Amino acid sequence: MNLKPFPDSDRLTIENVSDASVTASTNDGSDVIAGLTQKPKSIPSYYLYDDRGSELFEQICELPEYYPTRTEAEILKDYGSAIAQTTGNCELIELGSGSSTKTRLLFDAYFGIASRLRYIPIDVSAGMLEASAKQLLADYPALEIHGLVGTYEQALQHLPSSPLSKRMVFFLGSSLGNFPPKQCQELFQQITASLNIGDYFLLGLDLQKSKDILEPAYNDSQGVTAEFNYNLLDHLNRRFNGNFNRNNFQHWTFYNSQQGQIETYLCSTKPQTVQLKDLNLTVEFEEGEPICTEISRKFDLGQMEQELAQQGLNVLKTWTDPQDWFALVLCEVKGT
Ligand code: AVJ
Repeated sequence: MNLKPFPDSDRLTIENVSDASVTASTNDGSDVIAGLTQKPKSIPSYYLYDDRGSELFEQICELPEYYPTRTEAEILKDYGSAIAQTTGNCELIELGSGSSTKTRLLFDAYFGIASRLRYIPIDVSAGMLEASAKQLLADYPALEIHGLVGTYEQALQHLPSSPLSKRMVFFLGSSLGNFPPKQCQELFQQITASLNIGDYFLLGLDLQKSKDILEPAYNDSQGVTAEFNYNLLDHLNRRFNGNFNRNNFQHWTFYNSQQGQIETYLCSTKPQTVQLKDLNLTVEFEEGEPICTEISRKFDLGQMEQELAQQGLNVLKTWTDPQDWFALVLCEVKGT
């Protein structure tokens, strides 16, 4: 038998940081109540990512219409080692790690400069986090993983202490696009608060481009994105004992060029009443009434670089693909 010096179990910790006992902000559904009792109605986008939603998102990433994933992967492949050269060895902390597929490109780059790596994936989907962590440990014998299950806010308040002096938080896939400007600022503040001066932040941004490319990316011909959106209702039903009927809602998405964002909705196809029993919530819908389930902002690179600088994040370098569709921005936390 083959004796391994580091058994997998010693290299893996998964911590749930989403309980009320751990953080001030809880996942008790109060954000769902707030969103469904205001007009226009909305539901926070992170509810798209239960285990089923995370699987569907993985399928979206493979769709011919969904260009962001492969474009960002191309940049990571081409410039991953430049990123690693710039930061040197550091602990890698990922917001919204999902399947960690693109993260492998960063591992490959960092293993060029380090013999061991510590990775802190953060995700709201426990099932997805655990499955991908186990797969990563099997594929990277010199990797150690400390996963955090919870929202970004919760996890950033509970980063495990690091044996390395430097850390890099990274946020890929342009998931920042889900955050309206004010929430975006708050997230930057939470990130800088969780790091030390001289630490790094790597941000993936989907850039502004033609409607003809953007809209099909969120309304694919196979209907996977629509299914991803409908699953949000199934998730709320499971989570809060609800009776949403997905057949009474219609997936609707378009590029709002004035706001520079894709907006995605579920529209009630008739007047109806829906209950979420565990939240003591009854919601009335008019015919055609939309629930906003996601915005995906498309960024102006210069503007975002300015914004980062204003938030105490010094832009060190930016890489893009040849078509300038997507950008990776590397920042350093500066002293105040
Ligand atoms: C994971 C938030 C970056 O907005 O493009 C993909 C999610 N929604 N298709 C995006 C998504 C519909 C995705 N982010």
